[in-house]
Amino acid sequence: MDIMTAFKTMEYGPAPESDAEAQAWLDTHNRSFGHFIDGAFTATETQFETRNPANGTLLAKVGSGSAADVDAAVAAARTAQPNWEKLGGPARARFLYALARLVQKNSRLLAVLETLDNGKPIRESRDIDIPLVARHFYHHAGWAQLLETEFPGHKAQGVAGQVIPWNFPLLMLSWKLAPALAAGNTVVLKPAEYTPLTAMLFAELCMQAGLPKGVVNIVNGQGETGALISGHPGVNKVAFTGSTEVGRVIRRQTAGQGKKLTLELGGKSPFIVFDDADLDGAVEGLVDAIWFNQGQVCCAGSRLLVQESVADIVLAKIKARMGKLRVGSPLDKSIDIGAIIDPVQRNQIADRVAAGVAEGAILFQPDIAMPEGGCFYPPTLLSGTEPAMTVAQEEIFGPVLVSMTFRTPAEAVQIANNSRYGLAASVWSENINLALDIAPKLKAGIVWVNGTNMFDAAAGFGGYRESGYGREGGREGMFEYLKPTYLDSLKPVKLMLNNDHDTKNALSETVDRTRKLYIGGKQTRPDGGYDRPVFGPKGALVGQVGEGNRKDIRNAVEAAANASSWAGVSAHNRAQVLYYIAENLSQRADSFASVLKSMTSARNAEAEVEASIDRLFHWAAWADKLDGAVHNVPIRGVALAMNEPMGTIGIAAPDEAPLLGFIALIAPAIAFGNRVVALPSQAHPLAALDLYQVLETSDLPAGVVNIVTGDRNALAKTLAEHANVDALWFFGDAEGSKMAEASSAGNLKRTWVSDGMARDWFDADQGAGGDFRRQATQVKNIWVPYGE
Ligand code: NAI
Ligand code: MG
Repeated sequence: MDIMTAFKTMEYGPAPESDAEAQAWLDTHNRSFGHFIDGAFTATETQFETRNPANGTLLAKVGSGSAADVDAAVAAARTAQPNWEKLGGPARARFLYALARLVQKNSRLLAVLETLDNGKPIRESRDIDIPLVARHFYHHAGWAQLLETEFPGHKAQGVAGQVIPWNFPLLMLSWKLAPALAAGNTVVLKPAEYTPLTAMLFAELCMQAGLPKGVVNIVNGQGETGALISGHPGVNKVAFTGSTEVGRVIRRQTAGQGKKLTLELGGKSPFIVFDDADLDGAVEGLVDAIWFNQGQVCCAGSRLLVQESVADIVLAKIKARMGKLRVGSPLDKSIDIGAIIDPVQRNQIADRVAAGVAEGAILFQPDIAMPEGGCFYPPTLLSGTEPAMTVAQEEIFGPVLVSMTFRTPAEAVQIANNSRYGLAASVWSENINLALDIAPKLKAGIVWVNGTNMFDAAAGFGGYRESGYGREGGREGMFEYLKPTYLDSLKPVKLMLNNDHDTKNALSETVDRTRKLYIGGKQTRPDGGYDRPVFGPKGALVGQVGEGNRKDIRNAVEAAANASSWAGVSAHNRAQVLYYIAENLSQRADSFASVLKSMTSARNAEAEVEASIDRLFHWAAWADKLDGAVHNVPIRGVALAMNEPMGTIGIAAPDEAPLLGFIALIAPAIAFGNRVVALPSQAHPLAALDLYQVLETSDLPAGVVNIVTGDRNALAKTLAEHANVDALWFFGDAEGSKMAEASSAGNLKRTWVSDGMARDWFDADQGAGGDFRRQATQVKNIWVPYGE
């Protein structure tokens, strides 16, 4: 096309990026790859194909990782790990820096290869994916440099097993590798089966950087290979990005294996447009939110919520804009929408759209030219949907926008939060009061105000609810690859079930009463009407407690839900309540000490009560000091990291220090605005139950702390399975830890388990360290660009 024609028609001529170098690179490998293990490319017996989705051509054959391949990779990583960690942060920083430089030097080749393998527009791989990859390695070179001073008392997890998806192949690789390596871990990573090629090129860069062999191992393969990695006993930490369904499978698979797990899963993120928004800006933002990467984005703004008064105008603008989108060859530099990853995914998108239409959604697809052949799907709008429709609830993972309307800000929040997911949200309004009022109310890990899809290595990324847990990027992302040093020195818990005594033993004179359950601020009889005996160290009956059941747990969870306003109470006031509890406990210190003595032979009962009072003071002190952060992200604006409460936390308290262990867990939880359903030590529950009187006289709102006694592991299982419990802390035996992790898979609640180890609850680190603060909160990053 000549310039005059182009000028008259305002059409673009083709502007293809050459793929010659990428094709030549594939040829140097004979278009055949095995794995990258122990610093070398390895051959494999079976292979599968990876194709270019834009035209279906075969790009290369890639190894299908077997159990032997995964064993070899894990063994190499294990062998390499101690020396890699011993090198020290500054030495590791040099390698990460070298990788960042090499990514930059090879950025064009990486971008073209990514586009060939994945089908995403070259504009995106060149301008977004690859620059962010380099940025991630630079940022984490920095964390490696600062590791010893910024993360004292921590060490690497060991070997990280990492499984990534196909939508941002090299970017996800960098999000996984950079923090793991910075922290001193070695890695076995599996790329997605549709997109293994940039990982193979990256393996070459590792060789060029002189990375010690075994530090990075890349095993190709399908889901089964991924499962071999996540389940491998030689892996200490598993990091997964992909579908919620597979996230659940991995949660169950790794339960009880003592592995730290982070999951970055799906989403159905709301894009909320208020009537006072810059509507044209919002529509441009929407194009980015849902048509970036063909909508194959976990945080895609796939649910448009538009205020009713402007809905018609906004929909008209969106349709007009959709008519200008260009779908075509991903290597064409002026293409907006490239190819869908695979015919399987395209068919799934088409099926989900058809189901939406069958449910009553109104379909709009613009009349634009679609490429012949290849795997493409047009930009699509489904309007007139209702929040309850499947199409408004389930991830479509394609270029499909679902729209609905709302009337008031409160209704917008309600519809936005009506989702199992909670990854991201966009809020559009020119009214700063409104936008900053809405952002904290959204149950999502990332909120963009008047923007969308802003990412940076300095700001954590990750979700609430069934979008997973853990953060990638930022300081919080580093903690996911570290562990407190003391964990390695813990000893297994002694079983203290304490129920094989002579029940005929008469209640001694000292037993004053039967302790009830404590639900919604009231002492309640257990639903089943049964009690269970509590014995002293010599087998004497020292008291009775309620035998709580599922119904009692459900009531307690409901009471906790009804107390949600606790999260909105000022931190100052929460601190006052904790101080008050401490003061009231202090006044009854003698009676608590004697109850402790009656249950255990502990000689340090007085010290335990004193430590409990001190622990309450500790968390009262912290309540108003867990500041967030303003991240240094490369935008004109701010990214505010806010620490928000988890919600309702189920807590199974340990036997080791029946009063201190209980308080050490509930105090930080409530200090930061959570409500708890707590299960005291099964063997020695009385001291925790005597807290009722203390709590009742300390201005603690009803339902913030609920206490249920009985068969602790059975009750913990009910908590783990409960959809309205947001996190579960389990401090007990190894079996119970496994159960807690496995049973939490339903709503993917975040778990914190002791793996059957006993900690020293008196110790400042073990009993009140940074882990308690991080477990009690989740980080929300709110991005607020500004400027005229
Ligand atoms: P997937 O979740 O099956 O695949 C992601 C990665 O996990 C791949 O590397 C795969 O080989 C691996 N994998 C599969 N099963 C595994 C197992 N049991 N254990 C360990 N690793 C396993 O996603 P898939 O099949 O590619 O796409 C299906 C749907 O998942 C999409 O339609 C989309 O809705 C969603 N998805 C979401 C992503 C996100 O970023 N939130 C990314 C990719 C897919
Ligand atoms: Mg491919």
